[in-house]
Amino acid sequence: MIGRLNHIAIAVPDLSAAAAKYRDTLGATVSAPLDLPSHGVTTIFVELPNTKIELLHPLGDKSPIQAFLDRNASGGIHHVCFEVDDIIAARDQLKADGARVLGSGNPETGAHGKPVLFLHPKDFFGTLIEIEQA
Ligand code: CO
Repeated sequence: MIGRLNHIAIAVPDLSAAAAKYRDTLGATVSAPLDLPSHGVTTIFVELPNTKIELLHPLGDKSPIQAFLDRNASGGIHHVCFEVDDIIAARDQLKADGARVLGSGNPETGAHGKPVLFLHPKDFFGTLIEIEQA
């Protein structure tokens, strides 16, 4: 079902410091910050040859990233995103297998303008999984 690793998202307490670390220490290409108010995050994309890292920082009062940073003050891996060909078919198969889909259970438009769903981390060994119809 799952295909390519689309991205790994890392929540960071200081977005510009994290971008500088990836750019200057690790030598990666990093984007400018992008505010996504509907998702409650500001993101910077780190472009790698085979995937992306998304650096996430809370935006606004109700950001889903803030609680994560409250528990992980120095930051940490927030989720991994796998591509699927058909998100509805993937969702229905996952639900039939007992996986919990977060939120309404219907795909929402993700940070890249594509439909996404999130799967409960307790069903996947402590990792929040995003699936994206690429
Ligand atoms: Co993501």
